[in-house]
Amino acid sequence: MIIVIDGPAGSGKSSSARAIANRLNIQFLDSGALYRAVTWHWVQSQKPEFETFFKILPETELQTEYRDQTFFVSVNNKDITAEIRKHNVAKHVSKIASHPKIREFVNNYMRELVKEDVYVADGRDLGTAVFPDAELKFYMEASIKERAKRRFKELQQSDPGVTLQQVKENLEQRDHSDQTRAADPLKKADDAIVIDTTGKTFEEQIEEMIKIIEEQLKLKH
Ligand code: CDP
Repeated sequence: MIIVIDGPAGSGKSSSARAIANRLNIQFLDSGALYRAVTWHWVQSQKPEFETFFKILPETELQTEYRDQTFFVSVNNKDITAEIRKHNVAKHVSKIASHPKIREFVNNYMRELVKEDVYVADGRDLGTAVFPDAELKFYMEASIKERAKRRFKELQQSDPGVTLQQVKENLEQRDHSDQTRAADPLKKADDAIVIDTTGKTFEEQIEEMIKIIEEQLKLKH
């Protein structure tokens, strides 16, 4: 079984999915972390031409684990959980994620993973392209101002050099790229439930989502 949460950068998908996973005692899958991991790998490989990079992809092994409230990601056994959050990765990730070959690589990994357990996953195209038959789909939204403020606050510890303006511009650029790319763009699935988080406290928003999950999944039984 899988519950998916899609939406633009900084809309609160990841923190909501985490809270839901903890409340319902299910697994959490952060699909953006996988795109960030592949991007980190590309940056580490000295930003090769894409055709060259695609050739090393089949030998690239991703490993993930949700533990202690953290989604750990490794590439070829190197833990890069902290590295993938840095601006240097955020700067390139949407360009990397727009390539169908990269998307296929990440999607294959996710589809294999969810066969093994019950998941709540967050991303951009999970309800439309990756898991169109998901049991429940949410689409989260919030104003750009609020999203930038939230992400800036989050980055204070891990990437203190970054400015609010840089964070806002990065979110705007990624939204644009994610919504306009040809391969599986960010889009609300027709059957997704919209959650607008502007002006809501985190607790209010989680309560709203848990209530929907309990009601909807009960209806299906
Ligand atoms: O957390 P935030 O919303 O900043 O982004 P993320 O979930 O870490 O995802 C990083 C980037 O990966 C996004 O801006 C997209 O370009 C890409 N992505 C995607 O294309 N498809 C997904 N299912 C998830 C992420």
